[in-house]
Amino acid sequence: LPGESSNITYQEHTISREERAVAVGKHPGFRGCTIWFTGLSGAGKTTISFELERTLNKLGIPSYGLDGDNIRHGLCAGLGFGKEGREENIRRVSEVAKLLADSGMVCLAAFISPFEEDRLKARKIHEAVRLPFIEVHVSTSLEVCEQRDPKQLYKKARAGTLQGFTGIDSAYEPPRNAEIVLDAGKDGVGQCVQKVLDHLESVGLLP
Ligand code: PPS
Ligand code: MG
Repeated sequence: LPGESSNITYQEHTISREERAVAVGKHPGFRGCTIWFTGLSGAGKTTISFELERTLNKLGIPSYGLDGDNIRHGLCAGLGFGKEGREENIRRVSEVAKLLADSGMVCLAAFISPFEEDRLKARKIHEAVRLPFIEVHVSTSLEVCEQRDPKQLYKKARAGTLQGFTGIDSAYEPPRNAEIVLDAGKDGVGQCVQKVLDHLESVGLLP
């Protein structure tokens, strides 16, 4: 079972989050958290989260974006897109996001993360150690995603040369309890980023 090992003793850090925060960024105060973007391929997760990463860092708030396409080249190379591959992908990324959030980063995670159960586990991993977990549903419709088709993956999926593609022949379970719902088919990137910033402000995560 993941997390269960013998001869392993938890090593407690000797500085608190508050002490760490002094060295982190321009604005003292711990604001480590994870902002989790979920949505169909092509919904705008990467674009919005990377733009938010840039904006936050410009504001002096350390932020780092984890992105499905990138992570699947390294940490999760070799995992497929079946139920189990996606589950293990999200499990690993959830643990990394938790560590980044614990370090004081505003961690931005952009993964299709199509299954409610896996997203719920990601949330629990954070909430168990009192780290805020903010779920953002990038709810751009399948029609818009497929029309944009930036990587031509929908085209391949429709042609049957790519199997198990989310929204075509693999399920996407829309979140029911997302803190934020965005629609990049209606709003521009800037407006979507602003909506997330407004939420961060409202929960006291901006200086
Ligand atoms: S998941 O479902 O959360 O494990 O997926 P994720 O790690 O976010 O990876 C999604 C990116 O992988 C590419 N890709 C696919 N997506 C969905 N289904 C299938 N079968 C697939 N094969 C490859 C695609 O570029 C996804 O990136 P985004 O940014 O979502 O379009
Ligand atoms: Mg992407």
